[in-house]
Amino acid sequence: MRILHVAAEIFPLVKTGGLADVVAALPVALAARGLDVRVLLPGMPAILNGVRDQKPLIRLGPAFGAAVITLQLGRLPDNGLLAYVIDAPFLYRRDGDPYLGPDGRDWNDNHRRYALLGWIAAHLAAGELDETWQPEVVHAHDWHAGLAPAYIAQNPALNTATVFTIHNLAFRGLFPLDHHTDLGLLISGADQSALEFYGHLSFMKSALVHAKRVNTVSPTYAHEICTPKHGWGLDGLLRDRGDHLSGILNGVDYSVWDPTRDPALPKGYSADKLRGKKVCKLKLQAEMGFAVRGKTPLFAVVSRLTSQKGMDLVLACLHELRTEGGQLVVIGSGEAEIEAGFRAAAAAHPHTVSVYLGYDEALAHRIIAAADVLLVPSRFEPCGLTQLYALRYGTLPLVRRVGGLADTVTDATPGNLKDGTANGFVFDDPSSRALATRLSEACALYRDHQSTWHQLQRRGMAQDFSWADSAARYEALYRSI
Ligand code: ADP
Ligand code: GLC
Repeated sequence: MRILHVAAEIFPLVKTGGLADVVAALPVALAARGLDVRVLLPGMPAILNGVRDQKPLIRLGPAFGAAVITLQLGRLPDNGLLAYVIDAPFLYRRDGDPYLGPDGRDWNDNHRRYALLGWIAAHLAAGELDETWQPEVVHAHDWHAGLAPAYIAQNPALNTATVFTIHNLAFRGLFPLDHHTDLGLLISGADQSALEFYGHLSFMKSALVHAKRVNTVSPTYAHEICTPKHGWGLDGLLRDRGDHLSGILNGVDYSVWDPTRDPALPKGYSADKLRGKKVCKLKLQAEMGFAVRGKTPLFAVVSRLTSQKGMDLVLACLHELRTEGGQLVVIGSGEAEIEAGFRAAAAAHPHTVSVYLGYDEALAHRIIAAADVLLVPSRFEPCGLTQLYALRYGTLPLVRRVGGLADTVTDATPGNLKDGTANGFVFDDPSSRALATRLSEACALYRDHQSTWHQLQRRGMAQDFSWADSAARYEALYRSI
């Protein structure tokens, strides 16, 4: 079966979050099951430079404002999978964030930049761009690839199966309605309601209407988005999709996230030999200017610093964290106010709070390895990957019971400790008080019940969140259509 994955990000070339990790790992897991998988990517500089052995297939244009578009075929750097790259210099040759300009605002031609991605996918599906390979399934990820199902549906000669994965419904790909003239899609009558969302265009809505199957990245989030609370105005449409909407949990690429052979760590370790984890912790404490003490609970945040991620809650419980004798190390970037809050906290408490505002893959690995507890108090969380990374690194996740966090972390309640299912800490109410309470309880367990703590660590490290199961579910989904 021939599958084309369409996405704007792929680790390690272009990454703003978990989407990139998924797009790097899922196709490989599907290929390992014997599927014929390729990916389609926009030619951002890092992708043009990173995809190996690119050969031009066809030249197109003008289209979407670009005079010249060259579709190239090459191989992904780490795994050798075949990747189509759209080289459209006018639209894509821009460094930095794939969606934002240097001023931190969305590029004003994003509707054209990402419409082109979906449009090329549809023409590949039609067999017009590569006569040697035609996908049977086009699998599009997030709003950036959201027009692919519409362009495919618009071609009556095509019966390509389409799957659309929602990684985060909050980003609906909204644009002014009058931009539709740039997209080459019909927008009248019934077609209009498929694209129009309260006076805007929505690439996300278009995908939810046109894709044969829609899924999201955890079972709980699949239910949540059908409610007004988490549906971002699209819950009615999602409810209407009935059985054609499902939840498939993301996996972890354990070739990238493995504490026994992670090149970013000062010392590797395993569940049987946790000494290396202590070395990681002591080294990080020293580097951050903290007291170097194995017994001090070290908390970590590796996250976008946004209200989605509940980062305001973390800021609001810093006092309790410090009163408990804890230390906090943060890596991330995001909303200006939250960044400022963390910057101020680090300045006020340099020996207990350290903040790196920016993106650093290797430092993120070292922090997850060094910490005792990873905080993920999200208001909503489609899946979340860092809690899964933490589990493998013997770092107990402390999470809110929402989305994929609820599906992967089992609270250390007396009952769950007794029946051997607990692997972390969970709280319900999205308040700093609820977070602070669970945080204090985690500190107490850390201080007073070391052997229980070690049991939790070992359980998390032994859990298998690899892609094998989820890839089998995606394959079944493809076969069903
Ligand atoms: P989301 O995609 O919503 O941001 P996920 O938990 O799915 O959340 O994925 C986040 C990914 O981004 C993880 O791979 C995490 O390690 C990484 N990450 C987040 N912030 C940073 C940062 N500042 N530096 C390095 N990696 C980061
Ligand atoms: C999104 C979600 C996150 C998920 C990731 C990968 O960015 O916010 O929860 O893990 O996509 O699917």
